[in-house]
Amino acid sequence: MYTDIIKKVHIEVTDKCNSECPVCPRNFQGGAIHPNIKNIQLGVDYFKLLGDDFLKNIQQWHFCGTRGEPMANTEIVDIVSYLRYITPHVKIIIRTNGGIGGVKRYKELSKLIGKNGMLVFSVDGWEDTNEIYRKNVRWDKVKAHMDAYLSGPGNCHWDYLVFKHNYDQIPFAIEFAEKNNIQLEFKEPFGFDRKFYSTSDKRKIVYTLPVYDRKSGELLYEIEPETEREFPRNKHAAQPAGMYNQYIGAEVKRIKHAKNQKGIEKIANTWAGPSIDYYAYLKNYDNSEFNISCEALNRVDDVSGLPTQEIFIDCDGMFYPCCYLAGKHFMGEPQITAMINKVDKSKLIPSVDNSPESILKSTFFSKIMVDGLNGNLDDSAGTCHTCVSMCGEMPVKN
Ligand SMILES: C[S@@+](CC[C@H](N)C(=O)[O-])C[C@H]1O[C@@H](n2cnc3c(N)ncnc32)[C@H](O)[C@@H]1O
Ligand code: SF4
Ligand code: SF4
Repeated sequence: MYTDIIKKVHIEVTDKCNSECPVCPRNFQGGAIHPNIKNIQLGVDYFKLLGDDFLKNIQQWHFCGTRGEPMANTEIVDIVSYLRYITPHVKIIIRTNGGIGGVKRYKELSKLIGKNGMLVFSVDGWEDTNEIYRKNVRWDKVKAHMDAYLSGPGNCHWDYLVFKHNYDQIPFAIEFAEKNNIQLEFKEPFGFDRKFYSTSDKRKIVYTLPVYDRKSGELLYEIEPETEREFPRNKHAAQPAGMYNQYIGAEVKRIKHAKNQKGIEKIANTWAGPSIDYYAYLKNYDNSEFNISCEALNRVDDVSGLPTQEIFIDCDGMFYPCCYLAGKHFMGEPQITAMINKVDKSKLIPSVDNSPESILKSTFFSKIMVDGLNGNLDDSAGTCHTCVSMCGEMPVKN
């Protein structure tokens, strides 16, 4: 699959988290924790295992992931120090809800990151609103950590998910960011169920998002997207195509959400989505019609403007091409699960006898993923459904 040296890594250094964000796959709508969460972390030893030959080519480390909080990793400072030692100019990006880690860690990271990268605070509003989506994130901690980070030389970025409940704080956030030299960007949240049109007036319909209590399972409140006012387009963060104002003009529907979700982690343990056979319609099309442009293979470098190849590393150390497939595997999506089950999973995890280079040459990357991209899988779909849906043009199912 990969034809060039890997220059960028997106890594999930832990699946632990202090927050209970309702759309995050680590939990069910802010309530029960997903049974596949292991509360594990990668240590400095893992990075040493990757070896200098691999590390020396890396130009950017992105500490984020699909279901974990990098600042909850107790070795995060040691990991970043080690990477700085091996590659002094490497770009370090860390995304955090800002509510965990302690003042000392943020101060140290500000020095280590400096101007080669940034710490991104995922903060959706201010004192009275952030905790509505970032449930369980203590505001006093966010503020103390932000102040600690800002007291040092590190670049600071702020990613703000815009909801109905925090829209009015946008002007304040812009002012605060300008005063404190923070690069602020807004994002449209995903995760609101939609129907395209109501039968009566042809308007889009979005449903409110229920938020549950982790211990009792009780329904606590509902969240609404902003449907009337757009946020500043010139401050829109890079998001998947189509995400900016997809809820604008929609009618918000309050349906009766379950009053209690007790036991959901037992029934929702297995994949609730379609089977591979449901994807069989993909075989009615020529693979070239999907126009897949693989983000792992064709990411454009910010500085050189040239394509650069990237991998994703999961919290158990396993290599994947991207976070989309890792996230789907975590959720138990059957096609990627079957693709991975064809190989010995330990061959996708580095060890003393298994270098990153041999992982990238292994059957999964050199044959199975290539077949998935080119339509040669031996399953009823032929092409990897996730690749088409995330990086291509999904045809209409008929
Ligand atoms: C799973 S988080 C991991 C990093 C870190 N825990 C955080 O939240 O920033 C990955 C990214 O998903 C974003 N995110 C969480 N909920 C979202 C939503 N409903 N819509 C869009 N992005 C979301 C986070 O802000 C973060 O940038
Ligand atoms: S802070 Fe990040 S990892 Fe934690 S629950 Fe929210 S989105 Fe998920
Ligand atoms: S989903 Fe498929 S096409 Fe998209 S980045 Fe991942 S491997 Fe590449």
